[in-house]
Amino acid sequence: MPHSLIDNHGRPVSYVRLAVTDRCNLRCFYCMPEEGIQYVPKPHLLTFEEMERAVRLLVEMGVDKVRITGGEPFVRRGIMGFLENISQLNGLRQINVTTNGVLTAPLLPDLQRIGIQSVNLSLDTLNRQRFFDITRRDEFANVWETFEGLQYYKIKTKINTVVMSGKNTDELIEMAELTRQYNVDVRFIEEMPFNGEAQHEYAELWNYKKILDKLQSQYPTIYKLPDPPASTSYNYQVPGYKGTIGIIAAFSRTFCGTCNRLRVTPQGGFRTCLYADNAFSLRDALRQNISDEEVKKYIYEAVQNRAKDGFEAEQRASRGAVSESMAAIGG
Ligand code: GTP
Ligand code: 5AD
Ligand code: SF4
Repeated sequence: MPHSLIDNHGRPVSYVRLAVTDRCNLRCFYCMPEEGIQYVPKPHLLTFEEMERAVRLLVEMGVDKVRITGGEPFVRRGIMGFLENISQLNGLRQINVTTNGVLTAPLLPDLQRIGIQSVNLSLDTLNRQRFFDITRRDEFANVWETFEGLQYYKIKTKINTVVMSGKNTDELIEMAELTRQYNVDVRFIEEMPFNGEAQHEYAELWNYKKILDKLQSQYPTIYKLPDPPASTSYNYQVPGYKGTIGIIAAFSRTFCGTCNRLRVTPQGGFRTCLYADNAFSLRDALRQNISDEEVKKYIYEAVQNRAKDGFEAEQRASRGAVSESMAAIGG
């Protein structure tokens, strides 16, 4: 088996997003209905042992970056031990976490000790009441404490802000202004229809173009930065500001040509695109009595059958109009 993964379109694949749970302590309306989603029964979730084996095999195949997502990763008991274990893997260059920040602040010293170099924090507003309206929970203060803690411990931080017409679009500049004072990447994300219901209808379409127009009219001197390879965001900076501003065209899907990502869902579904069906059940493979090499063969074959972009993946997928929750996929 080769030590680097190249897909059928010539794209190197080196990044895995591992969703460690579908549970969450918020109810962001763009991710879940108010009553929540039907959580997966515990025995259907990958165990930590299974996830460790999966990560080890993927690293042996050439993956060097793992992002831990959910649901909210820190609601899963035992997660810190798991992070510590995978941090010992040779060849795993980066472990990053995407979190909503509700439970994260007290864990920051341990995360730093384990070597988590970068945290992506989901935050769509700086206003407590609006935070409640969007997430249906009154947790803004805890999330802000996490943000301040990340600054204090000098952990690289990206803020993920989902742009929702009529909900927070009047606040984009205030969010962008965080980059004046803080060394943070504020990234505006196009909303995708992964909310456990159906696509939301909005008066205005806030795609990356509209977001960029808004930024350029506020900051005429804003300039484009070179983007890291396989970046999801187009990155910009206002002269003199400490941080950077990014736009993620998650729904327009303009960055698929360099996509280096694989996904493992909380139930162990193996996905080669956010918009695709599971390529196969990694969980079932791990629960069969088969060798590492045989599991790797399933992975290799899935990578050789990737759609060229999110549109082709969506076309091939069997999902109907009602979409899955982001928490069930891992984002
Ligand atoms: P970095 O590793 O820091 O670049 O972060 P990331 O953008 O890969 O991950 P993050 O968890 O912060 O995700 C930010 C947003 O980008 C979320 O809304 C994700 O769903 C979206 N996103 C991440 N990867 C993909 C992808 O492959 N396709 C699409 N369409 N969206 C993605
Ligand atoms: N559209 C776009 N981004 C979403 N996220 C969750 N649901 C959606 C959606 N429907 C974002 C969260 C988190 C990241 C993993 O995905 O804000 O930061
Ligand atoms: Fe939880 Fe993240 Fe979904 Fe919000 S977007 S409900 S924080 S999993």
